[in-house]
Amino acid sequence: MGYPHKSHPRETPVLSKHFGNPEARKLETWKSLGGYKALQQALTMDPVAIQNVVKESGLRGRGGAGFPTGLKWSFMKLNDGKPHYLACNADESEPGTFKDREIMRWTPHALIEGCAIGAYAIGAETAYIYVRGEFTEPIARLEEALKEARAAGIIGNNAMGSGKKIDVWVHRGAGAYICGEETALMNSLEGKRGNPRIKPPFPAVSGLFGQPTTINNVETLTAVPHILNNGAEWYKAMCLSSPKSTGSKLFSVCGNVAKPGNYEVVMGFSFKEFLYDLCGGPLPGRKFKALIPGGSSVPVITIDEAESVKMDYEGFLEVGTMLGSGGVIIFDDAQSMPRQLARLSRFYAHESCAQCTQCREGTAWMTKILERIVAGQGTFEDLDTIFDLAENMTGKTICVLSDSCAAPVTSGINKFRGEFEALIKGKRSSTVAMGAGV
Ligand SMILES: Cc1cc2nc3c(=O)[nH]c(=O)nc-3n(C[C@H](O)[C@H](O)[C@H](O)COP(=O)(O)O)c2cc1C
Ligand code: SF4
Repeated sequence: MGYPHKSHPRETPVLSKHFGNPEARKLETWKSLGGYKALQQALTMDPVAIQNVVKESGLRGRGGAGFPTGLKWSFMKLNDGKPHYLACNADESEPGTFKDREIMRWTPHALIEGCAIGAYAIGAETAYIYVRGEFTEPIARLEEALKEARAAGIIGNNAMGSGKKIDVWVHRGAGAYICGEETALMNSLEGKRGNPRIKPPFPAVSGLFGQPTTINNVETLTAVPHILNNGAEWYKAMCLSSPKSTGSKLFSVCGNVAKPGNYEVVMGFSFKEFLYDLCGGPLPGRKFKALIPGGSSVPVITIDEAESVKMDYEGFLEVGTMLGSGGVIIFDDAQSMPRQLARLSRFYAHESCAQCTQCREGTAWMTKILERIVAGQGTFEDLDTIFDLAENMTGKTICVLSDSCAAPVTSGINKFRGEFEALIKGKRSSTVAMGAGV
């Protein structure tokens, strides 16, 4: 894997400050850069006080749903006599998302520190980092860093000499998208098939091994040491638009764009400036057409809609989409939207765990119809069938994988209906009609 780009002057590198510096992976250097000071401080604090600082900072989960982190931690009933667990979600299999990978590759100690603080704050002695199987380099970096942290007594039976036990372990997944869903992740960690569980019970009541558990994303946990070091007010002040969205956020950018990569900006940054200045605009001779801003699971927006967006949870909602995981997938005017959406739908059909009929049948059927349209063999009734299917696939299943397939497809058809109709009317295949795709 390569080196990241040099930070753009308009980025606010907090989590990404040391990306590209191999020295930062080493414990000695990491400590000289201020590493593990926050953990040392945290271990002198009451867990509830840590939860309160995180609540006050406004930090929201970076895994996709944006749930307030401090509030989630406060659901864990302290001193209930049960073992508690922290599961760090490093599955990162959402298409278009590759930010957690870079945190683990370049700053593994930052994540270990975040996990240790998170575990202590929820009354857990054990944290598992569940990493997707294909992430061989991030796994190796984490293992090396954990070995160093253990040998230095930072984690273990007497973490930093505090008398408290905090252990952190890496668990390698086997590369199934569904194992990023928090309850499927827990099943997988337990050695079972990675099927999502019905909620309730929620993980804070009965999670890993039936015990109270909190699941947090890599980026979420890595933000925590910065919040403890600099204070909740400092974090809250990183906000350019809605006060409900605070801090800095890593966005992964891919597709038809001049400068793909990871960019860290303050919540509320102008999406137009982000796309044209930081990311360098479209490729030569092309124009941006559409994008999916939050990983592939959120509604498609047109470039006109995107240009008005302030990049935070509320800003993306205003144009009918979501911030999600922050994986920005860009399509330019050479791309066929029917073809791109058929490809996406095929991904969800392949990754469905097949427990729910609406998802198992819906994702497969939707893919079949879209591929028929792309092949120039679709009908107008096919479009109606897709919307019928989408209705049945939304809000009716154990997890939201099913909804995640329906949302980009229906929004894409609504916004680019002309492209679908042209294929249906002309009975032409999209590869002939509209270029080769991303
Ligand atoms: C199908 C599916 C896949 C998911 N994949 C991921 C993932 O790869 N990484 C992640 O952090 N969250 C993923 N999530 C969200 C998690 O279920 C969970 O909300 C998140 O890890 C909570 O952490 P946070 O509160 O820090 O965001 C996924 C959800 C679904 C429904
Ligand atoms: S919605 Fe799909 S992936 Fe989620 S539990 Fe049901 S069948 Fe499995």
